[in-house]
Amino acid sequence: MEIWKTLGEKAEAVKQRRIAELFEKDNRPAGFSASLDEMMLDFSKTNIDDETLSLLLSLARESGVAARRDAMFAGEKINETEGRAVLHTALRRREGVVMVDGVDVMPGVHRTLERMEAFADAVRSGAFTGQGGRITDVVNIGIGGSDLGPAMAVQALASYADGPRCHFVSNVDGAHIMQAMRGLDLSTTLVIVASKTFTTIETMTNAETARAMMAEAVDDPVAQFVALSSAVEKTGAFGIPAERVFGFEDWVGGRYSMWGPIGLSIMIAVGPENFRAVLRGAEAMDRHFCSAPFAENLPVLLALVGLWHNQFCGYPTRAVLPYDQQLARLPAYLQQLEMESNGKRVAMDGSDLTVPSGPVVWGEPGTNGQHAFYQLIHQGPSVVPCEFLVAAEGNELGRSRHHLLLVANCLAQSKALMQGRSLTVAREMMTRAGLSGEELERQARHRVFPGNRPSTTLVYPKLTPEMLGRIVALYEHRVFVEGVILGINSFDQWGVELGKELAKSLEPVLAGDKSDEGLDGSTRHLLAYLRAR
Ligand code: F6P
Repeated sequence: MEIWKTLGEKAEAVKQRRIAELFEKDNRPAGFSASLDEMMLDFSKTNIDDETLSLLLSLARESGVAARRDAMFAGEKINETEGRAVLHTALRRREGVVMVDGVDVMPGVHRTLERMEAFADAVRSGAFTGQGGRITDVVNIGIGGSDLGPAMAVQALASYADGPRCHFVSNVDGAHIMQAMRGLDLSTTLVIVASKTFTTIETMTNAETARAMMAEAVDDPVAQFVALSSAVEKTGAFGIPAERVFGFEDWVGGRYSMWGPIGLSIMIAVGPENFRAVLRGAEAMDRHFCSAPFAENLPVLLALVGLWHNQFCGYPTRAVLPYDQQLARLPAYLQQLEMESNGKRVAMDGSDLTVPSGPVVWGEPGTNGQHAFYQLIHQGPSVVPCEFLVAAEGNELGRSRHHLLLVANCLAQSKALMQGRSLTVAREMMTRAGLSGEELERQARHRVFPGNRPSTTLVYPKLTPEMLGRIVALYEHRVFVEGVILGINSFDQWGVELGKELAKSLEPVLAGDKSDEGLDGSTRHLLAYLRAR
């Protein structure tokens, strides 16, 4: 497409231009920000100018984003490599009809949500008890999309939690389950086995360990087990009766699944009403995504900024920096959402991609990151586009000094990244510090910040359940738009298979039941070391 070439040339041409200069034009922030109600995305601190923005918007239009989006919402099988519809949006839809293979899926969605609510209410009210009494703790066993969404959301909504305590076990490392279960009264603990396929080795191994631990603590070991899965026949084989199985269809991808049964732990923690508010928030973002013109469309704009930085400017990573402690797991959640979705090398038409398919996503909450890796962001040789998130009001100690300092730090960082500190200013500082001559020059150079480093800032009034829904749906649709523009399928994940298969074949070698013959030299060397000990 010609426009790719034009954008590449544009990126090259503006490489040396200072972002700060763009503010000399009147009212840049208004032209380079967009809102949905009181949520606002500011991307004015990027090197995108009017011409670039208009080219990027044309790129989105020419790539068929609107048609693909409509196909997704309509239940068409856009996940072509797996022959599946992509309908996580149906899980948060309150009304309407969504047809898959000639059947309206919405009645099933509503029924499952109601069953989840009845169960969550029963757990929270004490109508459903453990063998030792009212449920005090919930352990969610799952991995990837069956862990990251609920773990992130339960932490994000900690200020709204009034149900049993929720714990999350994902790693097959025995330390994870032992540390989570140790100290719990298992007779009042509910175990949720969350696995779309109900075959994932980490989850099933942890579930079996939990069942064995339960067997030592109570008479009926599976009476306090619940399953969340689309493989309902397998849950029965594990011993969990149908009334405690919450199923979902194959049109819900693992990393897009927190809106349905996989969100049960969220619902138990914060209550069905707050869970519904999360869904409402996501649905509001869905409506915005479907109806707002691209120039005002938050997911489209966020995607275009992302493409500009990674594909056109060539910045290989992106930092997500929530100035919101409760969003501490958001970077990890987004790592799966973005990198499992778009970490691809082959386009839908079978051709090799000629551009990178997306950045490495990483991050930590501010202000902690400032005291760890921001040094590299400010003075390291590579440019790291930063995505800041911050609320006008905190959930705890709302408008106290804590929050003022948090916000001040967030704004200070994006400002510092953009403006930097020149050699002249650094020299003045050194002169004031009493240095002169060669020593002044030497010291001043270390105090220069190149600046001109791009960032976006997403601001919102407060991290409420509804706002969380909006934020997560915003990122989901951003990934979708990027995927469509790149021409890839964002909804499969074949890249995780090979490692799984090899792990399966190495287990018997480690256990001494199979020879290491035929393995590569390095793996044999490591096996020899590990087996000897
Ligand atoms: O890592 C691959 C993956 O399939 C993810 O996409 C998924 O979220 C995770 O494993 C867990 O899968 P399941 O829910 O089937 O246990």
